[in-house]
Amino acid sequence: MAARCPGIQFAVVDSDAGRIAAWNSDKLPIYEPGLEELVRSQRGQNLSFSTDVDAAVRGADLVMLAVNTPLGQHGQGLGGATDLRCVEECARAVARAARRSTIVVEKSTVPCRTGALIAKILQQHGRPGVEFHVLSNPEFLSEGTAVRDLLQPDRVIIGGQADSDDAQRALCSLYARWVPEERIVTMGLWSAELTKLASNALLAQRVSSINSISAVCEAVGADIADVSRGCGMDSRIGGQFLRASIGFGGSCFYKDIMGLVWLSESLGLHEVAEYWDQVLRMNDSQTARFVRRATQAMGGDLDGAQVAVLGFAYKAGTGDTRCTPAARVCEQLLARGARLAIYDPKVPERQIRDCLAPHEAARCSSDRRLRICSDAYKAASGARAVLVLTPWAEFGCLDWARIHGLMAQPAYAVDGHRVLDGLALEQLGFRTVSIGARS
Ligand code: UGA
Repeated sequence: MAARCPGIQFAVVDSDAGRIAAWNSDKLPIYEPGLEELVRSQRGQNLSFSTDVDAAVRGADLVMLAVNTPLGQHGQGLGGATDLRCVEECARAVARAARRSTIVVEKSTVPCRTGALIAKILQQHGRPGVEFHVLSNPEFLSEGTAVRDLLQPDRVIIGGQADSDDAQRALCSLYARWVPEERIVTMGLWSAELTKLASNALLAQRVSSINSISAVCEAVGADIADVSRGCGMDSRIGGQFLRASIGFGGSCFYKDIMGLVWLSESLGLHEVAEYWDQVLRMNDSQTARFVRRATQAMGGDLDGAQVAVLGFAYKAGTGDTRCTPAARVCEQLLARGARLAIYDPKVPERQIRDCLAPHEAARCSSDRRLRICSDAYKAASGARAVLVLTPWAEFGCLDWARIHGLMAQPAYAVDGHRVLDGLALEQLGFRTVSIGARS
C-alpha cells in the first residue's frame, strides 16, 4: 500500500520487539515472493516499523487492526469460537491513544458483528469528543501470491454502517489509487464480515468436493485431473480450486469454517452447521485415505520402512506450516512404524519438528526415526517410497532417474498433488500411486 500511495505515511506497529526488529532488518520475519523488494524500497520513505503503538495511533487518521484471531482454546468457545482477545486489546489501545476522529478498520478475519464489539470498546475507552468509525475491509490475499493479490485484487470489500459514508469514501479513495473503481465494493458492516468467512468456506468446499470425487476416481479407474478439467471448463463452475490434494491446510480455511460452524450452531441453524462441518470431515478423511492407500501399495506393513517426504509447507510458495496436512500424514506414517526423511525447500528443521505431535517428535528424535534433509536426493537415499506432500514445482523437475537409483527396490513414488509425470516415472521403473487415479 505504501508503494502505491507515496504521499501517505504507513506506520506498522507491533508490541513484539523481535518481530519489529526483523522487519527493520535484511531478514524479514516471513517469506513472501516480491515482499522483500517492496519493503526495501519503501522503508525509510513512507513505511516505518516500530513498537511505539501510542505514537502511531495518535498521529493516524486511519488505523487497521491486523492481529491474530485464532480459534478459542478455553471455556465456552472451545474448538469453535474465535478468540478475539487481541482485537479487543487493540481496540482499547486505539481508544486510549487517539486524540482526534479516527477510522478503525477490521482487517483480521472476525466473526459476524465483531464491528459492534469494537465500536463499543472504542466508545467506552475513548476520550470525550473523539469520534470513531468502524469499517470492515477483509483481506483476501493468499500466501505465496500475497503481493500480487494486493496489487491486482479481484475485489476490495469495504463494509460500514449507515453513518460511516465519509469513512468508507476515505478508505475507497486509498485503494482507488491502484485498484479500478468497479472492483471496490461497499456494503454493510455485517455483510463485509460474513463475505470473508463465506469466501473461504466456499473455496474450501470446492477442495473437499473435488477430493471426494478423487476417491471415486481411484475406485472406478477414472482420472481426477481429467474430471477437474472437464468440470472446470464449464464457465458456471470455473477451473480454480479444483486440484485434488491430500487435503487443504493453512491457518485460514480450517479456522474460518470452524468459526462458521460455531456461528451457525449458536444461531440455532443446526443443518447449516452440519453442512459446513462435513467439509472439514471430508478434508480429514482425504488425508487419512491417502496414508492408507500409500501403505497398502507398499505391502501394508510400514514397520521399519524408510519413507522420503518431499514438501512439508501447507502449500507451495510459502514456508508456512500452520495446519499443514503434511504433518498429519507424517504423524500417521510414524504411528505405523515408518522412518521418515523430510525435505522442504522453505521450511527449517526446527519448524518441522515443532509441527509434529509432541509425543511423536520426542519419540523419534531419540531413535532417529525422523531425519530432516537439505535436499530431495538425501531424503530419497535408501527410501522405499517417496511421497510428495506439497506441490512445489521443483519436485516435477528433479532428476528422477537419479532418485530411482538411490532408492531401495522396488521404489514407489506416491504423489499427493499430481505434480509428477506418472508415466515417465513408470518408464524409469517406479511403482506409482497418484491421488485421484488408479495408480
Ligand atoms: C486462503 C484464501 O485463498 C484467501 O483468499 C484468503 O485471503 C486466505 O485464505 C485468508 O483467509 O487469509 P491461503 O490459505 O493462503 O488463502 O491458501 P490457498 O491458496 O487458498 O490454499 C489453501 C489450501 O487449499 C492449501 O493447502 C492448498 O494446497 C489447498 N488447495 C487449494 C487444494 O488442495 N486444491 C486447490 O485446488 C486449491
